[in-house]
Amino acid sequence: MCGIVGYIGYRKAVDILTSGLKNLEYRGYDSSGVALYNQNKIDVYKAQGKLQNLVNILDEKRAEVENSTLGIGHIRWATHGAPTTINAHPHTCNCGSLVIVHNGIIENFKELKVELEKKGCTFHSQTDTETVAHLIAQEYAKTKDLTEAVRLATKKIEGAYALCIMHKDEPETLVVTKRNAPLLVGIGEGEYFVASDVPAIIEYTKKAMYLNDNQIATLTRNSLKLIDENNTEITPKIESLPWEPVALSKMGFKHFMLKEIHEQPDVIRNVLNGKLHTIDEPINLEEVKLDKETLKNLNRVQIIACGTSLHAAMVGKYLIEDFCSIPVEVEASSEYIYRKAITDEKTLVVGVSQSGETADTITAIRQAKEKGSHILIITNRPDSTMAREADSLIPVNAGIEVSVAATKSYIAQLMSFYLLAIYMAEVKGCITKEISTSLKKELIILPQKIEQVLNEKEQIKKIAKEYSSFKNFIYIARGVNLATAFEGALKLKEISYINATGYAAGELKHGPIAMLDETMPVLSILMKGKVYEKILSNAEESKARNAKLIALTDSKDAKIDELFDHVIRIPEVNEILSPIISVIPLQLLAYYIAEYLGKDVDQPRNLAKSVTVE
Ligand code: F6R
Repeated sequence: MCGIVGYIGYRKAVDILTSGLKNLEYRGYDSSGVALYNQNKIDVYKAQGKLQNLVNILDEKRAEVENSTLGIGHIRWATHGAPTTINAHPHTCNCGSLVIVHNGIIENFKELKVELEKKGCTFHSQTDTETVAHLIAQEYAKTKDLTEAVRLATKKIEGAYALCIMHKDEPETLVVTKRNAPLLVGIGEGEYFVASDVPAIIEYTKKAMYLNDNQIATLTRNSLKLIDENNTEITPKIESLPWEPVALSKMGFKHFMLKEIHEQPDVIRNVLNGKLHTIDEPINLEEVKLDKETLKNLNRVQIIACGTSLHAAMVGKYLIEDFCSIPVEVEASSEYIYRKAITDEKTLVVGVSQSGETADTITAIRQAKEKGSHILIITNRPDSTMAREADSLIPVNAGIEVSVAATKSYIAQLMSFYLLAIYMAEVKGCITKEISTSLKKELIILPQKIEQVLNEKEQIKKIAKEYSSFKNFIYIARGVNLATAFEGALKLKEISYINATGYAAGELKHGPIAMLDETMPVLSILMKGKVYEKILSNAEESKARNAKLIALTDSKDAKIDELFDHVIRIPEVNEILSPIISVIPLQLLAYYIAEYLGKDVDQPRNLAKSVTVE
């Protein structure tokens, strides 16, 4: 949520800041801005809307901006105040000498604002950030030392922040600090880079220092000084970034989302690589650092996550309970943190997150850790805050996911849960060799089955066109595919803005059925197995209320063609593994509907890929 960048060195700051912001666009895209130190003054440039609007302004003013070698930049996802140019960062103090960019939320900004106004500060924006600009400026007036001013001001702030600050009177300095929001400093020769995330700087350096909460770094062209909140100097821990610069190319696809959907067979191969050697050997999951005795004696698992990752968690619950007979609770992180969650050292707590930076999930795992639980993190970002705080880490290796709607990271999370559940069952000795071998045999051929589904995408495209004018959809399923219904509906909602809701099929007649008529299509996920006949009956009930019916099925049963208006067929698959295949047509359906409606598929309105505020 919001991306910040900073640069001090010898190169053209404007280019580094704008390319950094481009690579942080996944964190927000409703407005952007940069501040550049230029010939004894600081110039601020801002634009509402997509980053390209700012780039156009900076291109027009090229002669004015290109000589600066010191600056800060920001891309916004609005929390306080509408996404307007005035509310865009950087924000300044009254006299414009101090500029600041911020990611996070200042929780006590209203109280601070009242006090600052009494002291004569004039506010121009509706943001919480502007209070911090005034607050630091007030301290600077007393101390004439930017680092000290930041240290004193941040003591008065409650909430989450990553800040990058510069001052006209300290033209050789950038000051950065953070609390509960990610921030790193990239280290070059005679230059430093500041960013919310690695992609913004990886093109320039692979050496970096991650700040811990409340640390303050003061950067000049040739020095980095790190202190804590008590002004004690700390030796910076410089790390090598495990990343290669990646050209974020769509590879000929119209959108990143479509490209990422097509990457899923390879994502599965990647997840299996090194963990599933042959079908006769046990799963190798050395990432799980729980010793085998503790694992055998676990009496509970809690899985916490948000959004799409929460849907992967629901499948995980089903698998661990089915294979290992251990009770599993799944909960949205935002709920977990505000109740008395019962957890202890006999509970394994699994945090699932594509980004590894979701604020609610970070808070939830910290709470569980304090109670003595072992924390296992499943994430696509092994360099993230969650990964750093994990006791065990399963990196899902899906590669960078650019599209805001999660697709390939979901598949990678699901695969990680299959491996984890089978691994736990093998350690506990509660799965027969016959079952584990047959599951492994099927896991290995999943990529080919997904390729078959992708080859049939034209059929899904046609159905998408036919249904694109509907304003409401219901997705129904039971058992292991209930999460698939939720995930399919979420994909449609977030990229096409159509109201789609997933329901447990058995719940339909307890209320939602009242909504059914010819304006409300019902999509049924009908995999052969335990709940097939039941869902078929629920679809019949929907037909009787004139709903248009779509089936997503691996059954060749002719009855289905008679009952349903449209049928999406996928290759036959063991019911318990079917969530991996069944979600693919739903991703494609959502994609083609949104594309047909001309929506901004990769950057849907109001969303951001990394949700770093609670
Ligand atoms: C939906 C989507 C979001 C995320 C959610 C959690 O397509 O991407 O629902 O799944 O914001 O994010 P992570 O997984 O990064 O914790």
